[in-house]
Amino acid sequence: MGLSKGSLITFEGIEGSGKSTQINKVFKFLKNKKIKCIKTREPGGTKLAEKIRRLIINDLQNNEDKLTELLLLFSARSNHFLKIKYFLKKGYVVLCDRYIDSTYAYQHYEQGQSIKLINFLQNQIDKDSKPKLTFFIDIPVQTSKQRVHKRGRLDRFDKYSEKKLNKLRNSFLKLSKKYNRIIKINGKKNKKDIKDEIIYHLIKKNVIKNIK
Ligand code: TYD
Repeated sequence: MGLSKGSLITFEGIEGSGKSTQINKVFKFLKNKKIKCIKTREPGGTKLAEKIRRLIINDLQNNEDKLTELLLLFSARSNHFLKIKYFLKKGYVVLCDRYIDSTYAYQHYEQGQSIKLINFLQNQIDKDSKPKLTFFIDIPVQTSKQRVHKRGRLDRFDKYSEKKLNKLRNSFLKLSKKYNRIIKINGKKNKKDIKDEIIYHLIKKNVIKNIK
């Protein structure tokens, strides 16, 4: 979309949905097919944005200062987007672990922050290069809890209550109905089937062409 030749593809879902696993699998697949691609994540993705990520995840407390959290997220995104834009201009497929829909789900629906402010800031950043496709990997809250506990080392987002996680999941479900670019994937299916489904959509939507 917009000025760029490449495609921004984002992955969303609650904790433990398997986003990172799938990004790695899709990245490997594209590399094997000699398709130019990078994987990146939010908050983070650049040296500066990774520093901001640590402030958000480790230094801020839940609901302590919501506006600071939102502005830090957008500072990180603003810096990260320079990198995304650079690769999109060069024709890359950019696979990004979380993006604007996480901001809608966590900061707007869950924390109640202004959608107007969020959209205003977002448009300052990516007006010309919106995500082409978004894969929302959907899992039940119980599955999320089990997977996150297995992983250990819980950060403040991983310690969310079931009620909060339910709210977040419902927000992603709502978003997937609102925006055509969002494709909902059943995250309880086996990893290979999920990867195949993602590749199917990437081909169908012309993100990748002429693969053998
Ligand atoms: P996450 O990718 O889940 O980290 P990990 O898989 O290593 O635990 O992302 C960290 C957290 O950042 C996640 O719980 C949600 C939060 N987040 C927001 O609240 N708003 C946003 O806009 C983004 C991009 C992330």
